[in-house]
Amino acid sequence: MSSELESPKTLVSEDPLKGVLIENKSKFKTCKQIGFYRRQKLFHLDRSPYFADLSTLNTEDGIVTLSLIHQETQGKLKLQIMAVQGNIFRIKINEESSLKPRFEVPDVLVKEPSVERLKVSILESSGLVLEHPSSSCKIHLTAKPFSLLVVQDDEELMSVNSQGLLYFENAVSPSKESHLPATNSAEEMASSEKQFGLWEGNAEDLDMQWPSSVGLDFTLHGCEHIYGLPEHADTHGLQDTGENEAYRLYNLDVFGYPIYDKMGTYGSVPLILAHNLAHTCGILWLNSSETLVEVLSKAALQRPMHVASPDMKKHKAVPEKAIRWMSESGVVDVFLLNGPAPCDVLKQYAELTGPQMFPPLFSLGYHQCRWNYEDEADVRAVDSGFDDNDIPYDVIWLDIEHTDGKRYFTWDPEKFSNPVKMQNQLKEKRRKLVVISDPHIKVDPDYTIYTEAKEKGYFVKNITGQDFEGNCWPGSSSYLDFTSPAVREWYSSQFSFDKYTDSTDVLFIWNDMNEPSVFEAPEGTMPKNAVHAQGWSHRDLHNLYGFYQQMATSEGLIQRSGGKERSFVLTRSFFAGSQRYGAVWTGDNKAEWEYLKISVPMLLSLSVAGISFCGADVGGFVGDPDTELLVRWYQAGAFQPFFRGHAMQGTRRREPWLFGEDNTSIIRRAIKERYALLPFWYLLFYRAHLYAEPVMRPLWVEFPKDPDVFGVDEQYMLGSALLVAPVLHPDVTSIDVLFPGRGENWYDYRNFKCVGSSHKQTVNVTLEEIPVYQRGGSIIPLRTTIGKSSGWMSNSPYELRIALDHKGTAVGEIYIDDGHSFQYLHEHMFRYRKFTFKKNVLYSSSADELGCYPVDAILENVLVMGFKKSPSEVIVHQAGREKRTLRYSYSKALCVLTLENVSLAVSVDWEIHFKPSQ
Ligand code: NOJ
Repeated sequence: MSSELESPKTLVSEDPLKGVLIENKSKFKTCKQIGFYRRQKLFHLDRSPYFADLSTLNTEDGIVTLSLIHQETQGKLKLQIMAVQGNIFRIKINEESSLKPRFEVPDVLVKEPSVERLKVSILESSGLVLEHPSSSCKIHLTAKPFSLLVVQDDEELMSVNSQGLLYFENAVSPSKESHLPATNSAEEMASSEKQFGLWEGNAEDLDMQWPSSVGLDFTLHGCEHIYGLPEHADTHGLQDTGENEAYRLYNLDVFGYPIYDKMGTYGSVPLILAHNLAHTCGILWLNSSETLVEVLSKAALQRPMHVASPDMKKHKAVPEKAIRWMSESGVVDVFLLNGPAPCDVLKQYAELTGPQMFPPLFSLGYHQCRWNYEDEADVRAVDSGFDDNDIPYDVIWLDIEHTDGKRYFTWDPEKFSNPVKMQNQLKEKRRKLVVISDPHIKVDPDYTIYTEAKEKGYFVKNITGQDFEGNCWPGSSSYLDFTSPAVREWYSSQFSFDKYTDSTDVLFIWNDMNEPSVFEAPEGTMPKNAVHAQGWSHRDLHNLYGFYQQMATSEGLIQRSGGKERSFVLTRSFFAGSQRYGAVWTGDNKAEWEYLKISVPMLLSLSVAGISFCGADVGGFVGDPDTELLVRWYQAGAFQPFFRGHAMQGTRRREPWLFGEDNTSIIRRAIKERYALLPFWYLLFYRAHLYAEPVMRPLWVEFPKDPDVFGVDEQYMLGSALLVAPVLHPDVTSIDVLFPGRGENWYDYRNFKCVGSSHKQTVNVTLEEIPVYQRGGSIIPLRTTIGKSSGWMSNSPYELRIALDHKGTAVGEIYIDDGHSFQYLHEHMFRYRKFTFKKNVLYSSSADELGCYPVDAILENVLVMGFKKSPSEVIVHQAGREKRTLRYSYSKALCVLTLENVSLAVSVDWEIHFKPSQ
């Protein structure tokens, strides 16, 4: 057997500089070591062996169902095509009859998608045209060979199986000889099997399941730019993989992961977005088994890319990208999200998998973590350190060492002997505690969580029906089977205050190691032959494990409050839909500049895949950052959604005040900027929750018509108003900034100067701050005073920063509620207000009349950028009140007008008139 096919080995080596163990990449499989990949790659016919048997057409309920027949084997597949509300098509392919049901991903879709009745026309037995009833999208189905072409307004978006790669390993008999996929000739496959060991896996991975992999190709027309597929430590734009590599979606614990790499890391979202100047569309491949995605450009592709549909000959197809999805098991269940704009695709995705959960306000503040804060005295010291150094923070975190011997839901009796007191002290300062709770449970007959779960049969089983045992932090452990609703319910109940000893309402949860991580097992994870509820094999649902743990944890936190309070749960492993349960971070990065740099595209890819609440360990987890890197990381992290400093055990302490007063003051400033902007962050998360708008946005999403931004990895937008250009390299005195759009006004966030209309500029930078710009036409809300934590700021007055566009107009919003409960949802206890600046008047009006939160928030300052000439007078108009003149100052050099002591209630209607001088 050739060496490249040998099983991966677990290798660890000592990093001489850092004195820590770095995992070697060779622990993880390459594509060539993955059996189903090799089998599918052997499949290379000129055209698809499948044809659609139009005589089997059934259109009951407006769903098109027909048989796909393999020409050689006569094996039959059942094809279903559905029009889903909101310009979406769903395509399902499964065996017509099967010896064993195949796994279909449950719980990821928020509900069974609403299907609309397709309009079907038959084309003289050569194909069908299927019209989406509520959009201008159509599918042209060609019967022989089977392919689909998706067209919107006569523009071709994509074709399906036009490269003929539909692949389905049929379960026909349990004998190995008959495992042959209905693909190439039997002889070819049999000889390949001998040659390459095609059915081999790791010994622990084998079960009685026959090969059951599925695959399908998609050709994107006219779209050179594709994105998505988190999580990979790679560029935001997906790269061509070539024929021998693929993006791997397989959740794995990859300590100190290599960068610019397509290997699977902690989480998977099988979503691709494709974009060109005219159109954006998406493909959601709903499959939770190990999945490989090959991406090839036209130029790299040997095989034909497109088979014209019978009545589409008049259209010029411009196929650009060939995408091939290959999954180890399950069915083909694909959603085609037809856009047409980027925000439409993101909404379509959220309609299916749910929106970003609306986090409690505290979780948008700064989080201080370390593996580990040693004991209660350490926690107290760090907590006071923030106060002594005048740095706000909201949450201190405890890693695994806080427990009694890595038994989650317990406390180390010596180091954390009075956890309630510790939490109460934090509570007095309006701060919170997050503690870790991993999915592995120590095998220990004296540990109630273990004994109870064992007795109830709540652990994942091994192939012989015993509780699966593997190694993790506590040593021998069993793993809760979160795929079972009963297990989730039981796990959720463990978070109730009476069960979780010494937990209080300021304690929130961190789910780690939930890929799941199993030390010393092949690839450090659970063997694929492990058995879950209802007999499903781990192979089928591996990528869902972390998703389910976070779901159960989040529900547990909500339930412990009687359904009143929002939860906060951070997870390392995730899948499509995880956005509904909390935040995600990018795992064990390194304290190196390249990892700071890669954090931006990694977070952008998560963001466009629905996971807005994401962040990377500030400072880098593995190793010790140099001071400049740490400072730059704080500055970048302050402008990223989940903002947490974290460091590995054994690294040097790095609380923000340990690097000399100069650096402390720079970090303080970055964190304070974050706190000043909390109203803006909160608004962005509200909008993410409501409208599926990503909080952190790649430039192409916000400027879809500006081709210069389609490949930008080093800058991004926060909402549609702020452009952030973090400094990602050491020792630089300037960086190149691309100002997206054409002729927009951009204003320096710190000095309010309009930076001109040039598209690309080199801007000077100092260590003090990173470049941030406000977009002309936007209004953002800020707080004017910063407290010890977000909880200290509920009475802090507001400021509006108004950046005028060329027409002298701007719009913005503010969203206010209690910051933690569900009252905004159930009792309309919120205020959602809109601000409009036009024709020299600033209007405050309601953005949602239902909101009735009795807030007495005050607007104190207004700053208008791009105000061309000093006004003669500024007057407030408010119904039922006398007109009032406001004092103002005006900078001619900067064109900035400032109002102080405005003293207007944020929640009522008013107008501020800026009377032009003659
Ligand atoms: C791995 C996590 O990625 C890291 O953040 C954590 O500190 C360690 N596990 C210990 O719990």
